Amino acid sequence: MREQLEKLQRDAEEELLGARTDEAIQAIRTKYLGRKGALTSILRGLGSVAPEERPAMGQLANQVKEALSQRIDAVLEGIAVSKKDSRLLQERVDVTLPGRGFARGTLHPITQVTQEICGIFAALGFAIAEGPEVELDYYNFEALNMAKDHPSRDMQATFYITENLLLRTHTSPVQVRVMEKQKPPVRVIAPGKVYRPDADISHSPMFHQIEGLYVDRGVTFADLKGTLTFFLKHVFGDEIGVRFRPSFFPFTEPSAEVDIQCVMCRGKGCRVCGQSGWLEILGSGMVDPEVFKAVGYDSEEYTGFAFGLGVERIAMLRYGISDIRLFTENDRRFLEQF
Ligand code: FA5
Ligand code: MG
Repeated sequence: MREQLEKLQRDAEEELLGARTDEAIQAIRTKYLGRKGALTSILRGLGSVAPEERPAMGQLANQVKEALSQRIDAVLEGIAVSKKDSRLLQERVDVTLPGRGFARGTLHPITQVTQEICGIFAALGFAIAEGPEVELDYYNFEALNMAKDHPSRDMQATFYITENLLLRTHTSPVQVRVMEKQKPPVRVIAPGKVYRPDADISHSPMFHQIEGLYVDRGVTFADLKGTLTFFLKHVFGDEIGVRFRPSFFPFTEPSAEVDIQCVMCRGKGCRVCGQSGWLEILGSGMVDPEVFKAVGYDSEEYTGFAFGLGVERIAMLRYGISDIRLFTENDRRFLEQF
């Protein structure tokens, strides 16, 4: 029986050397040490061993079992470790590789100019107001003293949605919405998108305006001139020439369009300013009593001025951009310059 046990141990150890997987090793354990395994069948012959040798055989059998068990555990452990090592090797991160760069976004030039302009007026005590881009005919035209069939509606070609609903053609409807809700004094600016069926290098079907409105007792045309001149010198520099040119808007009386000296030729006359030396930058005027009537303000008690400026136009002059379409093409080579 001693030889049988020793052979069993040798055979098992030899087989273990060739085993590579957990399953193969478990199979060896079952084959040699399992309840129906080789060791059990050897021990069945214990009855035919001389009684005085039985304890020694029993002891030897236990030693063999113990030794094999430990061997098997050790081999399993070894396999687990090498599996983990190879996984770690596969997953190894090369921390010396350069990082993946990501592009940093910047504010769109129109957003930057809008924020700058709003900042200047905020410093003068103006609050920000907003209104809808899909607007009622009433606010865009009628309350601004442009009744249906009024010829001045032709000044602004319009995208209509239904007879009474349209894409606002200017930010002036926000004036009406603000005055409906608020009693004087009113000091607001309203930035936003506006729409007109226009398209060439200086006109785009969607563009941005900033509306300004100041209503109180005793507001005069001098306040309008002073405020707008201050603003334009702030944006374009103290040396820039500013001129107020009589004009017409149905919702202001008197009205003025404001030009600045052409920033390209400094007033000499060039292609950009059509040889005039001046560039139109905004419309303005004293709020027409008809508009006050529409919102329920007493035009004997209050006066006010309003203006509307084109943000693209200011950005173009400011940065020397010659084509308005660049703002909406989303070409990064253009946008990255701001
Ligand atoms: C108006 O829109 C008036 N609501 C302005 C106003 C407000 C006057 C308050 C009096 C009181 P106008 O149509 O001129 O006016 O447009 C104002 C500015 O918008 C223009 O000076 C120009 O800078 C800009 N603008 C007009 N049409 C376009 C266009 N298609 N693309 C880009 N900018 C434009
Ligand atoms: Mg105009």
